[in-house]
Amino acid sequence: MKTVSAEEMNKQAEFSDRVKNMMAHRSPKALVITYGCQQNENDSERIRGMLAVMGYTFTENKEEADLILYNTCAVREGAEQRVLGNIGALVHEKRRRPELLIGLCGCMAQQEHMAKTIKSKYRHVSLVFGTHSLHKFPQLLYEALLDDKRVFSVEDSEGVIAEDVPMYRTGDPKAWVSVMYGCNNFCTYCIVPYVRGRERSRQPERVLGEIKGLVAQGVTEISLLGQNVNAYGKDLEEDIDFADLLRMVNSIPGVRRIRFMTSHPKDISERLITAMAECDKVMPQLHLPFQAGSDRILKAMNRHYNQAQYLDLVRRVREKMPDITLTTDIIVGFPNESAEDFEETIKVLEAVRFDSVFSFIYSKRKGTPAAEIDDKVTDDEKHKRFDRLLEVQNRISREINDACFGKTYELLVEGESKTDKDMLTGRTPGGKIINFPKKNGIKTGDYVTVTVNKTNTWSLSGSLTEN
Ligand code: 5AD
Ligand code: SF4
Repeated sequence: MKTVSAEEMNKQAEFSDRVKNMMAHRSPKALVITYGCQQNENDSERIRGMLAVMGYTFTENKEEADLILYNTCAVREGAEQRVLGNIGALVHEKRRRPELLIGLCGCMAQQEHMAKTIKSKYRHVSLVFGTHSLHKFPQLLYEALLDDKRVFSVEDSEGVIAEDVPMYRTGDPKAWVSVMYGCNNFCTYCIVPYVRGRERSRQPERVLGEIKGLVAQGVTEISLLGQNVNAYGKDLEEDIDFADLLRMVNSIPGVRRIRFMTSHPKDISERLITAMAECDKVMPQLHLPFQAGSDRILKAMNRHYNQAQYLDLVRRVREKMPDITLTTDIIVGFPNESAEDFEETIKVLEAVRFDSVFSFIYSKRKGTPAAEIDDKVTDDEKHKRFDRLLEVQNRISREINDACFGKTYELLVEGESKTDKDMLTGRTPGGKIINFPKKNGIKTGDYVTVTVNKTNTWSLSGSLTEN
């Protein structure tokens, strides 16, 4: 059974009560630090939700935390090194305050070799659990607190769906809602299918119920989340696909904007493109990772499309939605990528002209097929290619942003600008950020109209349009 039983969830609620009683005398504080993608952010909302039920409040300060929990990412080595560095540095704090509980969970923890490393080399970490044990957090925390023993829960699994885990949200006007978990694609460079399990979809009524609850709390923008949202419904008994789900969300009163992430180019159907174009609340934005331009590399990556098919897909999407904002992910330096292969990636950048690009230097992930390839390309060469890619894309992003000058957009106000206290910031339907001067009566969650009067490579500024 993929869905965790009500009985198991009740058991967790009991553990939750026990932790609450056990800790009540201290008014416990927790610090949850999240690395990686939106899925991890979403999991951290569940972790905080469970902690809040257990009587914890939250702090940003390590010195006053009773629990420090790292929710980790395994997609690239850099993120893992940072976490190891940070937990390593906590050894002094643990010595100073032995009652401090340090934990590590998420994708890094789900890898057997990493759990072993923590067990043997980071002895001050006393709670380690993988992605599949998330819903058992109350029980695991209880056991770790009970007699100060170290608790590890990282068994391998195809993955489960745990509904009704409490969520702690920040009161943003935007929220992410998971529609499915896991991935079946096994791109040869990627660790995700190994740490997140197989594709499994939530029941549509669960997704819709969650969204209605969010709307009741004042949320107006919903982002549907999954490693490969276009595979939604394939594993459900009900005859439903992602296009159907989009239409259902589109008909929920109070929802004003809908986005989704991530789409695999091989799974985007004509039905989905039509649904996107027809649903008035689905925003003109699509994140469509192409990873590499060379057909040879795409094959080695096990991506199941070639460059021509990708470009044709972009053409079909733009035919129905000419103003759509397109973004992508790119990996530079896949093992034995040649200079000619890399030129094909640049060719796709120039042909599509993405609004923005998330680019990464290939990172070897233990246990994936690509890690077995004897790579002849030097790091220096990979960095040179990476810099060149940034240069090309920065020019394109700048040109696209410059073309926004003088245009008027509806923005959802997201809060104060991070760089200027006198400005507010919001997003256009396409997902672009525009900063504009604060004005009395305008607050986070409002929808306003702004005309662009200044353009940069990564952001736009504007002034409120008087209605
Ligand atoms: N090395 C570098 N980048 C990777 N990604 C996934 N695995 C790796 C890896 N081993 C990138 C892909 C993916 C994004 C989330 O992370 O571009 O789309
Ligand atoms: Fe990783 Fe590929 Fe699945 Fe994306 S589609 S999560 S890159 S295996």
